[in-house]
Amino acid sequence: MTTRLIVASLTIAASVVFAEVEISPPESATQAEGLDAWSRIFDVASHPRCANCHTGPSDRPMWSGPTYGTTRPHGMNIQAGDSRMGVEYLQCSTCHTTKDTDWDNANLMPHAAPRVAMGWALAPVEADWFGKTSDEICAQLRDPDLNGGRDMLEIAEHLNHDLILHWAWNPGGGREPAPYSLQEHVDDILIWGVAGMPCPES
Ligand code: HEC
Ligand code: HEC
Repeated sequence: MTTRLIVASLTIAASVVFAEVEISPPESATQAEGLDAWSRIFDVASHPRCANCHTGPSDRPMWSGPTYGTTRPHGMNIQAGDSRMGVEYLQCSTCHTTKDTDWDNANLMPHAAPRVAMGWALAPVEADWFGKTSDEICAQLRDPDLNGGRDMLEIAEHLNHDLILHWAWNPGGGREPAPYSLQEHVDDILIWGVAGMPCPES
């Protein structure tokens, strides 16, 4: 794979200071390197900053991680519905308001509803990661029928463009960031992809 593209930095607002993420797949990667990368991808996917929103048919976001004490469904009986954004009930954006200026001060207050520079919503029902095993998440993420029809490069590009993810590595308000960095996570997706997307049990 010789494609080497630099994805332009986000141009939402001058105050958004996200590092540019480079999408640069390795020439080759062994199965062992792919599995190694997968284990780090799983560390990220299963982390509260990701899994709290990647829930399935319950339609309910989760509250988990050190700042929540106990793991439980989102308070206030929040339901995402088929829309995944609460249109049928109370819209996520009522509290998770879209924030596109003064990014540095958007999420300082502990226990406030996180705000990002795009609409807040649950992940698609197929991308159900909360409480799932490494093998289950791996099988979902490599299946184009379940991952939004994305190949490896499209997953990597999606990760760069998705402003929710930039929040997950810089959440503020005392929340623990997702492990590694966005760049390392993108690199791991590419290593895993070039290695043929191996999963632990296969
Ligand atoms: C605020 C809720 C929210 C959080 C937090 C969140 N996601 Fe998502 N995720 C979504 C939504 C919504 C989509 C669908 C977006 C789309 O398809 O354009 C999505 C889709 C994805 C996809 C596309 C592949 C698929 O199977 O659908 C990946 C990969 C992904 N998220 C990774 C992550 C990672 C990694 C984290 C944590 C660092 C994370 N997400 C945190 C809401 C969230
Ligand atoms: C009535 C206000 C309100 C609405 C509506 C709301 N939320 Fe929240 N949400 C909050 C608050 C407040 C927190 C933070 C609670 C805390 O940190 O103790 C939160 C936290 C979260 C978290 C945890 C983030 C993290 O990793 O720490 C997720 C995920 C989430 N909300 C998803 C949703 C989704 C999806 C919807 C729409 C279906 C939604 N919320 C609707 C108020 C709301």
